Amino acid sequence: MTGLRHLLSAADLDHAGAIAVLDTAAQMAATQSREIKKLPTLRGRTVVNLFFEDSTRTRISFEAAAKRLSADVINFSAKGSSVSKGESLKDTALTLQAMGADAVVIRHHASGAPHRLAHAGWVDAAVVNAGDGTHQHPTQALLDAFTLRRHLAGGSDNPDGVGLDLAGTHVAIVGDVLHSRVARSNVLLLHTLGARVTLVAPPTLVPVGVEAWPCAVSYDLDGVITDQQPDAVMMLRVQRERMGAGGGAASGATSFFPSPLEYTRTFGLDARRLRMLPDHAIVLHPGPMNRGLEISADAADSDRSVIVEQVSNGVAVRMAVLYLLLAGEREGWS
Ligand code: NCD
Repeated sequence: MTGLRHLLSAADLDHAGAIAVLDTAAQMAATQSREIKKLPTLRGRTVVNLFFEDSTRTRISFEAAAKRLSADVINFSAKGSSVSKGESLKDTALTLQAMGADAVVIRHHASGAPHRLAHAGWVDAAVVNAGDGTHQHPTQALLDAFTLRRHLAGGSDNPDGVGLDLAGTHVAIVGDVLHSRVARSNVLLLHTLGARVTLVAPPTLVPVGVEAWPCAVSYDLDGVITDQQPDAVMMLRVQRERMGAGGGAASGATSFFPSPLEYTRTFGLDARRLRMLPDHAIVLHPGPMNRGLEISADAADSDRSVIVEQVSNGVAVRMAVLYLLLAGEREGWS
């Protein structure tokens, strides 16, 4: 099996490759409970965080992951550049190449930008997609799978679920699927890991062509919760910044649903819906949350919520990805 050079999509990982990342992440997580969290593994290597779009937790998480592996980290916040997209990306890439970047972690508003960076021949670095447009966000899906595996597949003798997949697990992914790279990456990775996925959204927020995705689709959240008793509910942020014709943060949402109140009533997770879930079910959200819109404060802060744990698992998963791309044993990567 050839080694993976880049991580651009959840589709880059086959079953063995996905398990290899999750198992490596479990090893990384174990090192993160030590007093000294830093490992010497990537000493002398340079990781560039190239963020053309806003991010809090993903950027900080990649930075923490690279630093805990002793890599040198350069944070490049490219937002606001007035150069046209293609030129800007190429010129930036040539600069990174001249600086000797070993890995480039890129977030870009244009779907496909990481793919272009990886394959245009501008850089020799390994490219990690940290979210491109509405397309893919593979490390988010990996951290979600890591979190699901810990809670739903592991037992007391194997708390991280090492070696296990998610066969038999049913995950409902709820909300703004249309604009969500998190949903796209999760559907692919969860399917690879043997889980069953149901997307739940208003018809206006379901992408054209969803029939070809390896999942079920429903417009009825109460029905899915009551009749199918999912093991996990993953709430998606209503991405208002991608809804307006002009992209304005507050505009446009009401062309996708009648009103915020109506959206919350039909597709929001609240205490009543939490009580309808099976006792073992957990609640995920990639953040940032619109509290009071897709998730109520009591659902976000309930003891079923693993939202804060997702953030710490993100560091371990990104350590694993950087390690496997830059230093590690690549056997098992597709
Ligand atoms: C997600 C993203 O940026 O795609 N957030 C994240 O990476 N933590 C989801 C979102 O912004 O809603």
